[in-house]
Amino acid sequence: MESRQSFYITTPIYYVNDVPHIGHVYTTLACDVLARFKRLDGFDVKFLTGTDEHGQKVEKAARATSLTPRVFTDNVSQNFHDLMGLMEFSNDDFIRTTEPRHMRSCQALWNELVSRDQIYLGYYAGWYSVRDEAFWNKDELTDGPGGTQLAPTGATVEWIEEPSYFFKLSNWQEELLKLYDHQQDFIVPKSRRNEVISFVRMGLTDLSVSRATCTWGVPVPGDTDHVMYVWLDALVNYITAVGYPETKSQTFARYWPANLQMVGKDILRFHTVYWPALLMAAGLDPPKRVFAHGWWTNQGQKISKSSHNSVDPVTLVKRYGLDPVRYFLLRDVPFGNDGDFSHHAMVKRINGELANELGNLAQRVLSLIRRDCAARVPEPGPRMASDEALLAEAYLLLEQVRLAMDKQAFHEALKSIWKVVRSSNGYVDRQAPWILRQTDPSRMATVLYVLAETLRHLALMMAPFVPRSAARLMDQLAVVAGARTFAAVGPAGALTPGTPLPRPQGIFPRFISS
Ligand code: MSP
Repeated sequence: MESRQSFYITTPIYYVNDVPHIGHVYTTLACDVLARFKRLDGFDVKFLTGTDEHGQKVEKAARATSLTPRVFTDNVSQNFHDLMGLMEFSNDDFIRTTEPRHMRSCQALWNELVSRDQIYLGYYAGWYSVRDEAFWNKDELTDGPGGTQLAPTGATVEWIEEPSYFFKLSNWQEELLKLYDHQQDFIVPKSRRNEVISFVRMGLTDLSVSRATCTWGVPVPGDTDHVMYVWLDALVNYITAVGYPETKSQTFARYWPANLQMVGKDILRFHTVYWPALLMAAGLDPPKRVFAHGWWTNQGQKISKSSHNSVDPVTLVKRYGLDPVRYFLLRDVPFGNDGDFSHHAMVKRINGELANELGNLAQRVLSLIRRDCAARVPEPGPRMASDEALLAEAYLLLEQVRLAMDKQAFHEALKSIWKVVRSSNGYVDRQAPWILRQTDPSRMATVLYVLAETLRHLALMMAPFVPRSAARLMDQLAVVAGARTFAAVGPAGALTPGTPLPRPQGIFPRFISS
């Protein structure tokens, strides 16, 4: 019997009409960092991502090539899958909505909703945007060029009229408002929560949940003229991956409801209105939290395929290295806000913070230990107040980082870590171990020991953000595999004096543009 607490975290599943760009990477990165943090903090983590492969948008993209939707989706899904490897994402599962386990799960949910009288056959006449795969009301539209109508997202809409199954969303208004009230952190950040509450207060209309003019989807049980609306199909992935419809299974009981569903602000309504209503209507619990983050923009415009302003993650990683990219994306913009992408800002963070502050600190300390302590963890003598102060900062870091991570404030977590980086640099300058070497070698050993211990904590805290570099730093401190978790924070995991250390190697090189 697993005694660790579980933590289930999900990304949206990405449309396979598109090559992955930095926006897609951003959401998955945020989840990866949280998943890694929770694992190091002793949780039993399940981290899910995947691809959303049905619907008109994907069908249209496939048609534009000479490939069948099946072959087309196999290819594009593989791009997303490969990207997981490139970014070293630590997802435990990668779901594709074209998999049999998912088709089965969708149909089971549909049948459950039918048996609970939540679905009826009607007729849809209204506006639809293929790009958003969304139905829009007349009053949400604006005039576009050439007499077109535009959705608030800027996508053109078309008028559709067809038989459709509807989900009785209008019946769930009160329950949804109660949910937002009882689970205050259901929608984070607060501004998004307020937005959703006002939307639901205005009243809800029933949701069209099938399409009769699209064939690329999950067939509606018992009616071959319809496939399920792609958003219903897509949302269900989150429960498919934990074993739905086997709700009595250990896996389902362990991981559902999800602890955190991360989304971009573009898909907030789907995740905080339709999704919890569908779940409640099927007798299932809504997730514990949905966090809607902001957008990466390029010169003020949302990065997307349709805007032709993509920033390619593969090129970025080739140019700057994986860990610097991971660090930059979560450090530069307070999580939740929009951020405008700039190479200038990236280089500034890499050179100013990673290379000059953290990289330099590690290099200085490890080189001094190599030269002046026979390449072994130094033997510390009695500690002075300044030593205790720096160590206390390092030991307390986990608590501060944990608080920030629990509210998905990555930039705050990194800021707390950086406070300790800066204190350490100040401490080295003040203690001047290179002078102590002549005047007081035993004091020098204590100072270098305190610094090595602080570096160990910095490496542990940075591990979720920059896993490879943090592991290299721990290698250079000879931290054993079993001590690379947060259980080793504090004196319990202290470095053993006398342990031989390998030759120091730079961890964060400066970026020099060619
Ligand atoms: N397939 C749906 C989601 C179904 S989830 C049940 C979808 N896919 S998407 O590929 O268009 O985008 C998904 C997510 O990618 C967004 O919600 C967001 O998390 C991320 N981003 C896409 N572009 C982005 C930016 N420019 N900036 C930040 N994140 C963005 O919607």
